[in-house]
Amino acid sequence: MCAALGPSSRCPDVCLSPFSPAGMLLPLLLLPWAWGALDASPPVPTGSLTLRLLQTIIFHNASSTDMEGTALLGDLETHSLDCSTCEIRFLQPWAQQGLTLKQWQDLEKLIYNNLSNFIRMVNDLVEDEGEGYPFVIQFTEGCELHPNGTSRRFCDAGMNGEDFVSFDTDSGKWVARRGDKLTLKAEEILNYNQVVAITLQFLLRMTCANQIKSFVQHGKESLERQERPVAVVFARAPPPARIPAPVLLVCRVTGFYPRPVRVAWLQDGEEVGPGWWLNSSGILPNADLTYQLRSSLAVGPGAGHSYACRVQHSSLGGRSLLIPWEQSRPWGPGLVVGITLGVVAIAAVAVVLWRSRHRGYQDVGPGESSP
Ligand SMILES: *[C@@H]1O[C@H](CO)[C@@H](O)[C@H](O)[C@H]1NC(C)=O
Ligand SMILES: *[C@@H]1O[C@H](CO)[C@@H](O)[C@H](O)[C@H]1NC(C)=O
Ligand SMILES: *[C@@H]1O[C@H](CO)[C@@H](O)[C@H](O)[C@H]1NC(C)=O
Ligand SMILES: *[C@@H]1O[C@H](CO)[C@@H](O)[C@H](O)[C@H]1NC(C)=O
Repeated sequence: MCAALGPSSRCPDVCLSPFSPAGMLLPLLLLPWAWGALDASPPVPTGSLTLRLLQTIIFHNASSTDMEGTALLGDLETHSLDCSTCEIRFLQPWAQQGLTLKQWQDLEKLIYNNLSNFIRMVNDLVEDEGEGYPFVIQFTEGCELHPNGTSRRFCDAGMNGEDFVSFDTDSGKWVARRGDKLTLKAEEILNYNQVVAITLQFLLRMTCANQIKSFVQHGKESLERQERPVAVVFARAPPPARIPAPVLLVCRVTGFYPRPVRVAWLQDGEEVGPGWWLNSSGILPNADLTYQLRSSLAVGPGAGHSYACRVQHSSLGGRSLLIPWEQSRPWGPGLVVGITLGVVAIAAVAVVLWRSRHRGYQDVGPGESSP
């Protein structure tokens, strides 16, 4: 827990802070980083890699609270924490490495106890400030390790989905992110506790980066997993009135991992430049920790151009996937026009037939039977 908060004692009227340094909470989930085992010369990961702890604490009322935590390395969930028991679950085969079983059990106990204190403290603060239930507090904290060995640290808390307080690792100060009384009070309380600030600074600056390096060693296989993209190209009618083109070519790329991908359209072998004719869904997650993306190209009626979707991804070993758009296949632009013309022709014939029959009926005199 990045918020380092004090004991459960009620605040006497005149005291600056209900949180004495002695009773401060250690940043709970940051603690394993302090114990992370490292081999002699750990490799620096080749791209930037982020270790992120997310925690959500829901305060239903003064006597009921739910807390959940997750640790993510890049986009891999490594640990989860359900604080009805504060049991840590290992979501990767290598996630348990770095600590002994006893150390993990001690950590669970420490989180459980400290969390209880934290919750009591928040309830006291909320009661003092006349804030109502329910509310949600979220923390995100961790670091991003760059290939050049530097790291960016972050530790932010939100309340009910809005920025609340942030910790500045350079100055070691908490900064209020809104101006209301509750937030300013929380900022004051947090900054009063120097021990917590120093600990937090150390954990975010040193331990976090070291822990990433350790995870990179243990979890090399998961982090370097490569899944090849599968791509198809198909045509679709453009949204009415939005795009002045008869056909939208869609390239659907899915099943790839890791996330970085490059998808481009080629017209007669030349990459199509940016413009209103291009659109992309952005990279979206699949349920199986692969990703997908759709890219569309609006093409004019002019015949004689060839189009292809080109996909570049690390799993393809330096080659790219090229999926040509085949005009001749069903639902190609030519066929769409053909079918449209066909439908118009049939409709015209039907109208002519109907009108001639209709006129025929009108011509039929009373008493005569129609054929
Ligand atoms: C946190 O938990 C540990 C282990 O149970 C305990 O020793 C420590 O005093 C607790 N700290 C706070 C501030 O609650
Ligand atoms: C507190 O909230 C919990 C869960 O929403 C509910 O079951 C419980 O009755 C509430 N207690 C009080 C005192 O309101
Ligand atoms: C290290 O790399 C990061 C990200 O690429 C960059 O922002 C930072 O300025 C670099 N720092 C140094 C000292 O080169
Ligand atoms: C781009 O695609 C998105 C959905 O994929 C759609 O909502 C949006 O209208 C499209 N933009 C244009 C200019 O067609």
